[in-house]
Parts: sequence; C-alpha cells; structure tokens
Amino acid sequence: MLRSIKKAVRPLLEKIGLLTPYDEPNYRVVIFQALTRKLPNLHGKKILEIGPKDGKDTHRLASLAPESFLIMDIPSDYTLNVTSAFRTPREKLPAWFHEIACQKKTYREGNLVYLTPQEVADLGQFDLIWCTGVLYHNPEQLRFLKRLFNLLSPGGLLVLETSLTRHPQLKHYNCVEILWPKSQLCLRVGDDDNRLIPSLLAPDQGQSLSIQANVSHLPSRKAVLSWMEMCGFQNMEEVEIPILDQARMALIATKGHFMGYTYSNRGPSPSPYAIGGSL
Ligand SMILES: C[S@@+](CC[C@H](N)C(=O)[O-])C[C@H]1O[C@@H](n2cnc3c(N)ncnc32)[C@H](O)[C@@H]1O
Repeated sequence: MLRSIKKAVRPLLEKIGLLTPYDEPNYRVVIFQALTRKLPNLHGKKILEIGPKDGKDTHRLASLAPESFLIMDIPSDYTLNVTSAFRTPREKLPAWFHEIACQKKTYREGNLVYLTPQEVADLGQFDLIWCTGVLYHNPEQLRFLKRLFNLLSPGGLLVLETSLTRHPQLKHYNCVEILWPKSQLCLRVGDDDNRLIPSLLAPDQGQSLSIQANVSHLPSRKAVLSWMEMCGFQNMEEVEIPILDQARMALIATKGHFMGYTYSNRGPSPSPYAIGGSL
C-alpha cells in the first residue's frame, strides 16, 4: 500500500523539484561491472553468450575485445520477442548482430539443453560464458547448468543470473517452485499485493512470473547454489544486484579441475546417474 502511494507521488515530487529523478541502476550493467573487476579485458579469450535476446550484454562484452564470440539463442521458429507491451516474430539473425564489434563473431540458433552431445562437443570450450535471464526459462535446470560447465575450459568463468521463486515460504528452502498445472494457485506480485491467485487469470501489469507462459520452474536461491556445486563449479561469488526482495540472483563461478558429482555416492563408480547427462 505504502509502496503504491510512493510510486504514484514520486513523479509529481520530481516534477516540482522536491525529488531528484531516480533511475534504478540496471542490474545487467552491475553484473557486467562485476565481471570487468575480475577481467578488465577479454584479450585472447573465447566467449559464449546464451540467450542474448536484445543484444545489450553482447555489445558490452564485445567492448572487452574477446578473441572470438559465439552467441546462441533459441531457434526463431520456436519463439517470439515478448515484452509486456507486444509480441513480434524473432529474427533468424538479430539486426543488432551486425553492429557487434568483434571480428570472429558467430550467431547460432539452438536450444542449449537439447543439442546432441556431438553438437555440444563441436561448439568447443570457452574461457567465459555469459548467461543472464535464461536459466529459469528452462524446466531442466540442472542439465542446463551442467552443459554450461562442460562448455567451459578449466579455469573458465560462468556469469549466471536468474529469476528466483518469490513464494513466501518456498524461497527459504532448497527447492524449486513448479508452476504446473496451470490451474494451481500462484503468487501475484503487485506493488502492494502478494496474494496467491489462480494462475489461469490473464496476466496484468503486476503479473507474477508464475503466469508468464515461458516460465514453468522457479528455483530458490539455495537450489541454484546446490546445483552449481553438484555440477562442479567452485569459487562462487554472488554479485549484489539492485533487485527488490531478492527476486533474482547473480553470481560468477569458476570451473576448476573437479568434474562434479554424480547422483549416487554409494553405488557403482562412476555412477550410471551422471548429473546433467548420461555416461
Ligand atoms: C529473458 S531473455 C534474457 C535476455 C538477456 N540475456 C537478459 O539478461 O535480459 C531469455 C533469452 O534466453 C533464450 N533462451 C532460453 N532458454 C534457452 C536455451 N535453452 N538455449 C538457448 N537460449 C535460450 C530465450 O530465447 C531468450 O532470448
């Protein structure tokens, strides 16, 4: 309630000069800055970006002058550009790609989770993978993360950012909120309203991610950290991002020489249940 009043009154106060106009710092820029503190440039580095969509991070990453840059997004035939205002067909090769300042750049259509093992191997290995806003669009999130792990060279860095469950109870546990069936109750996140509502209701401005068509599984922060560890990532450093109520998280992690766990620590070794794939 208080938040809605503040939101309504702020533009007025800004207009009459009683408040300085305030721009939320863009969290993607904040993550990029955290990366540049670790790697001020990407000279000699091979990098991969998954799910660029608007290409804004692609531009930022290219400014660090990587040796080569592979950019992958879902095939355009299977997706649309969806914003809160409209939906447009996705281009096969996004218009912004030509403006990316990198000599060895490639745009590849593909769903990382469902490429064949050979297709994944053919991509090669990377010194840096940038993957923001993508994980939570994928139902098989552990498999997704393990693929990122396998695509990194030893010592390589993963920059990961994802949306998290907002559920008032689930967000404290090591678990995933499964937003299915669509008839279930889900959290409506409005300015002053955190009620559970039927997820079949048409999305509105305060729509919860639970009713966004391309989100079916929202992990908790602890779940993301557990998966990262299971995959074998080390030195996980969270990046503090300007997002209310910890509804998203960002981190930078390293692939060391440890190749990750298997599901079973008592059965045959190696276990037939490899994480994120089959042996
Ligand atoms: C919400 S947008 C994120 C855009 C941008 N990276 C950001 O941080 O805002 C998610 C993007 O990831 C892509 N994507 C989702 N799952 C993917 C997958 N398994 N393989 C490749 N691209 C994927 C989507 O097509 C979309 O372009």
